[in-house]
Amino acid sequence: MSFEIRAARPDELPGVIKPILHYFGRSEATPEFAERFGPILPADRIHAAFEDGRVVGSGGVFPFEAGIPGGLIRAAGITLVGVLPTHRRRGILRQLMRAQLDDIRERGEPMAYLWASEDALYGRFGYGVASFSGNVEIPRDRAAFWKDFEPAGRIRLIEKDEAVEPFSRIQREAAARHPGMFVRSEDWWRHRRLADPEAGREGGGEMVRALLELDGRPAGYALYRLHFSAERGIPNGYTSVIEAVGDSAEATRELWQYLFGIDWMARVRAQLLPRDHELFLLLREPRRLRFDLRDGLWVRLVDLEAALNARSYKPGEPVTVEVADEFCAWNEGVWELGPEGASRSSGAPELRLDVAALGSAYLGGFTFAQLARAGRIEELADGALERADALFRTDRYPWCPEIF
Ligand SMILES: CC(C)(COP(=O)(O)OP(=O)(O)OC[C@H]1O[C@@H](n2cnc3c(N)ncnc32)[C@H](O)[C@@H]1OP(=O)(O)O)[C@@H](O)C(=O)NCCC(=O)NCCS
Repeated sequence: MSFEIRAARPDELPGVIKPILHYFGRSEATPEFAERFGPILPADRIHAAFEDGRVVGSGGVFPFEAGIPGGLIRAAGITLVGVLPTHRRRGILRQLMRAQLDDIRERGEPMAYLWASEDALYGRFGYGVASFSGNVEIPRDRAAFWKDFEPAGRIRLIEKDEAVEPFSRIQREAAARHPGMFVRSEDWWRHRRLADPEAGREGGGEMVRALLELDGRPAGYALYRLHFSAERGIPNGYTSVIEAVGDSAEATRELWQYLFGIDWMARVRAQLLPRDHELFLLLREPRRLRFDLRDGLWVRLVDLEAALNARSYKPGEPVTVEVADEFCAWNEGVWELGPEGASRSSGAPELRLDVAALGSAYLGGFTFAQLARAGRIEELADGALERADALFRTDRYPWCPEIF
């Protein structure tokens, strides 16, 4: 049985994403769902598989600008991938991935990345696990910092409309500092991040928007909701931190100080924190975070040359690598990687790897040495791993505070 695979037309929205909705227990997109995705997901960025005119599988792309070491890059944020259970294991995902990656390449987006619903799925298409992220839950009475910092600035609780502009500005700058964080458009803020449908509250209260000002200027924000509960008059609920972003170490510290200080809450929970989050060293008892780690972002270098030339490197000696890329053969070959970027090389390869391993190293989440220890890179010349790691070293671990 052959399927028609093509980009969706605007009039096919939102029906064309029915396959993934099926797995959320829905047969149709609710108006709320359409409102959430309509403004931020262009129809022609959704590829769908049709059988006799009916959609049986689809997958979308958010056109992002995303943080990489040294700045921002155009990136394809893969989303809403699904194939109906009636049509599973007939190669539809594979055909969708083919069409999607070809399209991403044509549009000149050098990198694709995603959060995987299942970690077994995407390696075969050249995605490498690129970060780990974690959830924490800490009793408020064990959340003291290692010393008493002098409080600074002020925090205001603000309305959604007032939040969009300062939050956008702070977040855009944060994305340029944090590999893996995509820049939110104002539409994204309005329709997604700050949208607060009852169904998404998981029993908690309304979303609270807090703006931190230091020296009178916006320096950070926190989004959270309170889950109040009590037993025999003793509060045992928690503050759920949706996201806290400061523009400096001081701002980040102030935000968390505030979040840990909210009365009536017994605990503070937060999700999707990077492995190098400031809290580990800020807290007197970091173990109390109960940091719970799992795979985070998966990165696919679509145009290897453009992607590698877009990021920054530390000073160091070049290294030649032989890249295998079964799914996107245009990336295959021997490349010289150096402080200035990447170019094709006729030299003898010193490392041999699959493009997925390069995706794992690209944002700085994993070292070449780590990948080699897992058998994902072969070292063909002594010292090559060390040279590659010296070049690719980054100051910050990848962080994306939102599943897209
Ligand atoms: C996961 C899903 C998209 C797979 O679609 P599909 O059309 O059945 O996949 P294909 O037949 O194209 O399979 C492609 C490859 O992935 C493998 N694969 C598919 N689903 C898999 C799974 N859940 N776990 C492990 N491997 C899987 C297939 O065995 C095949 O392997 P091969 O390349 O070695 O032949 C579909 O089952 C689905 O919609 N699942 C629920 C929603 C979901 O998880 N979406 C992904 C969101 S990130």
